[in-house]
Amino acid sequence: MSDNHHFHKKEAYYKRAKNNGYRARSAYKLLDIQKRYNIFKRAFCILDLGSAPGSWLQVAKKIAEDNLEKYKDQYYHREDYKIMGVDIKSITPVENVKIIKMDFTKPEFNNEIESFFQDKLDLILSDASISKIGNKFTDQLRQINLCYDILTLVQKYLKYKGNLVMKAFQGSDFDKLTKNIKTEFKILKILKPQSSKKKSNEIYLIGLQKK
Ligand SMILES: C[S@@+](CC[C@H](N)C(=O)[O-])C[C@H]1O[C@@H](n2cnc3c(N)ncnc32)[C@H](O)[C@@H]1O
Repeated sequence: MSDNHHFHKKEAYYKRAKNNGYRARSAYKLLDIQKRYNIFKRAFCILDLGSAPGSWLQVAKKIAEDNLEKYKDQYYHREDYKIMGVDIKSITPVENVKIIKMDFTKPEFNNEIESFFQDKLDLILSDASISKIGNKFTDQLRQINLCYDILTLVQKYLKYKGNLVMKAFQGSDFDKLTKNIKTEFKILKILKPQSSKKKSNEIYLIGLQKK
């Protein structure tokens, strides 16, 4: 694909994001993942890691609201949903969503999770990425380390049969990471969303049905 074509495609996603009121076009990556794997199935307790500016929170809130309606006559219906977003950066409030300004790799973050959610989590989302310092090799390793921190939260707080979406960077140690995630979930999917930049090495790991 020519760079020019790529540019126009990227622009198209950007315009679409603006038109639908999303804060970032990353919203379409999550919507794409949802369309393929139905990660929000029966999801009411949702944690989003690395949320700024908040488009995944907007998507999560919308689908959780739909779920209240969709399951209202079913055995597993809920009265309400609980969504928490966390970032080092400030996030403009999203109605009915708890926002924490913190580094989620700090032990204190566990207290935040435990005091907000009474139940275990149905879904953990992470679009978190380290801020790149330039060296591709070290950046990739730092991102993988971040993924292991997320995996620790998954082991601790994600419920049986819960789902995970996590951004990683392809490169060395990526295969080892996927093997580790595979041991936690019945199904592991790896996806490079259509709306992701072609040249970037970002990729999403989708764990379905935690063991
Ligand atoms: C690509 S952005 C997320 C975009 C978001 N999903 C959206 O749709 O609006 C990645 C975010 O991860 C955050 N992040 C990375 N590491 C973090 C950490 N350890 N704790 C909290 N936030 C972190 C960054 O500050 C950045 O805002």
